[in-house]
Amino acid sequence: MAQSVKGTRDLFGNDVRWFQHIEETARRVFQRHGYEEIRTPILEEIEVFKRSVGESSDIVHKEMYDFMDKGNRHVCMRPENTAGVVRAAIQHKLLINNDPRLLFYVGPQFRYERMQAGRYRQFWQIGAESFGVASPESEAESLLLLFEFLRELGLRHLQLSINSVGTAECRPAFHAAIRTFFEARQERFCADCHRRIQENPLRVLDCKVPGCQEALEGHPLIVDHLDEASRAHHERLKALLTAMDIPFVENPRLVRGLDYYTRTAFEVLSSDLGAQSALLGGGRYDGLVKQLGGPETPAFGWAIGLDRLAILMQALHGDAPVEAPAVLIPLGDAATLKAFELVRQWWAQGCRVQLETRNANLKKGMTSANRLGAKLALILGDGELEKGVIAAKDLAAGTQEEWPLEEVAERLPR
Ligand code: HAM
Repeated sequence: MAQSVKGTRDLFGNDVRWFQHIEETARRVFQRHGYEEIRTPILEEIEVFKRSVGESSDIVHKEMYDFMDKGNRHVCMRPENTAGVVRAAIQHKLLINNDPRLLFYVGPQFRYERMQAGRYRQFWQIGAESFGVASPESEAESLLLLFEFLRELGLRHLQLSINSVGTAECRPAFHAAIRTFFEARQERFCADCHRRIQENPLRVLDCKVPGCQEALEGHPLIVDHLDEASRAHHERLKALLTAMDIPFVENPRLVRGLDYYTRTAFEVLSSDLGAQSALLGGGRYDGLVKQLGGPETPAFGWAIGLDRLAILMQALHGDAPVEAPAVLIPLGDAATLKAFELVRQWWAQGCRVQLETRNANLKKGMTSANRLGAKLALILGDGELEKGVIAAKDLAAGTQEEWPLEEVAERLPR
């Protein structure tokens, strides 16, 4: 028997209900703030990610689902959506004159990672990207959007960590400082860190190996190497977050696993997620649009893991709220015709009713109504037809009543 591919999941029942609830909440909140949905292809040319996420990142280095297609193009199943959104926005000239442009997306991403609870090879992200505005105010707006979304889902006690990773201009000074620091204690760092210090020294700060984290004790801080404008930017963002009552901690080691960030970088962690504690991440990426061939355009955004959000929702709230539709069981040809007429009226009014179409007898109809988890079965036989009523059975209580046909709609689930 064929099984789903390792690292991928079939979503159904309660999982899919949580996904739907989260997506509906996201769409409602995002549209309120002026964000428009964008859907980009899962397949992109590999260059899109090499030139954005970065060749030295784990994502590009080890985790890409890439292959040559039948036309000999080197393509890849997107590992994240920011680069694709930027590619699309340039291609369709959505970024003109640095007018503010707010875009959001919901969709699957692919990374060849080691499987763990909360870590999959096909996973889902919801993301929000804000283009055209360089100010800390645009970051505050995006973070307000994020926390409004999380609050509407009933999630609290999440920790926002922020840092500034500076700009291309001030980074060389920091790189020099961290290299000097590294060289003085290089035997304490892992082999990967030795590669990182050559390719992208910032990444050393992000190493998860406990020995490396200890060796980093007293490391030079990026915030001490910021240029004046980046420092002022960082201070202003912190002041705005404080004024808006968004609690945060500063984490000087937060650098993120993607190369495109400039200035603000942030993550939100949840202790309820175990080892995979990162619920979301994002930051500013002022150089990316230009790097992918577009006009100079500042940008800021974040993406949240939908699979991880659903795990949190389940842990906090239990199963997703759901009421199964009522089941209408017609008995005999004449009743079946009448049943079609009735359900069409009820559906048009937004009622949720599932029609039994197997020409089933009462016992068979009732058995599957029970198995579907319906609370209400409606039975229409010749006797009911003659009297203009329906037999309504409350499946939890086991009681049965006769309802006049014209009263049924208002008693059905919606
Ligand atoms: P990221 O930190 O790589 O950022 O991913 C964001 C979120 O996606 C993570 O915090 C996590 O919840 C989820 N995620 C990542 N990998 C997996 C996985 N293997 N299984 C389950 N969930 C996962 C980005 O992707 C950036 N594009 C975010 C961004 C948007 N920055 C600016 N705009």
